[in-house]
Amino acid sequence: MNVQAYAVRDEQRPPDNLLLQVIQRGLRSQPKRLPSWLFYDEQGSALFEQICEQPEYYLTRAEIALLGAHAGEIAKVLGPDVRLVEYGSGHAIKTRLLLEHLATPVAWVPIELSSAPLRLSMQRMEQHFPELPIQPLTVDFTRSLRLPVSPRVPRRTVVYFPGSTIGNFDDREAAQLLRKMRGEMGDNGGILIGVDLKKDKAIIEAAYNDRAGVTAQFTLNMLARLNRELGCNFELGGFCHRAHYNAMAGRIETHILSRHEQRVCVGRLQVLFREDEAMLVEYSYKYSLEDFAALAATAGLVVQHVWFDPDQMFSLQYLARAN
Ligand code: TRP
Repeated sequence: MNVQAYAVRDEQRPPDNLLLQVIQRGLRSQPKRLPSWLFYDEQGSALFEQICEQPEYYLTRAEIALLGAHAGEIAKVLGPDVRLVEYGSGHAIKTRLLLEHLATPVAWVPIELSSAPLRLSMQRMEQHFPELPIQPLTVDFTRSLRLPVSPRVPRRTVVYFPGSTIGNFDDREAAQLLRKMRGEMGDNGGILIGVDLKKDKAIIEAAYNDRAGVTAQFTLNMLARLNRELGCNFELGGFCHRAHYNAMAGRIETHILSRHEQRVCVGRLQVLFREDEAMLVEYSYKYSLEDFAALAATAGLVVQHVWFDPDQMFSLQYLARAN
């Protein structure tokens, strides 16, 4: 399902000649860590699609149910003649649910680093909205953007950031990204952003530890990818996936654990793993409404509307300038 919306971290991938250095640096640090963008090669993206269909992974279903219930009202709040700038080129389903309700949108500006997924989502969108101007940007949305000139003057620019990708940034990075969006949307603009909510620990942990083991495969694909691309010799059976909810920090912490002591070659570097040693691969922050309002405030933004799915698992929030 929503691959592109989550696949954004791949945009931070360094050029090939730096890949080895970046990985070596992460594996030399204490604790060891691997960068999150490593998830999303072709196989990782396909596995992520499967994660979205697991019964325990409530996020994607909740966000789609939310749009099913509230897209009309959301569109009313955004108003007519909106330019919709989407971070991560998005999946046809979510963006389509929103665009179906928007009155006379000026343009859809999908942003994605790699052009293949971008082309795919554009084709899908063209079929549904043949009249809609599409102005794609192939850039890293965490960098500063120059938006294309619209075919008509928009009444408002709305930055749409679906999924729960904001939760993969720590507070400082998230505030920085929100502040950047605030600049891009202009005085009269807004941000429509997906925010996963704090809830029972068992529900959250289950979402990142599905029984079918797809998430485990997804995280271990990082090591498979290092074997494929850098000629490392990670023995996949010697490692396992662990996702734990740290309630104090309000986040899922996904690690890859070494099952026993072992050595792995990463380029010329020999990396020693102790038994049970954990490598950090991803945080997924969960927010209370207060948490997210406070984060928005540090970026000069105020939460004007919050919508929930029928089970109150997930939220879409509309932010505007605080002053
Ligand atoms: N970043 C997404 C999230 O936080 C995608 C994701 C789903 C994920 N399952 C994961 C990331 C497991 C790392 C590990 O929900």
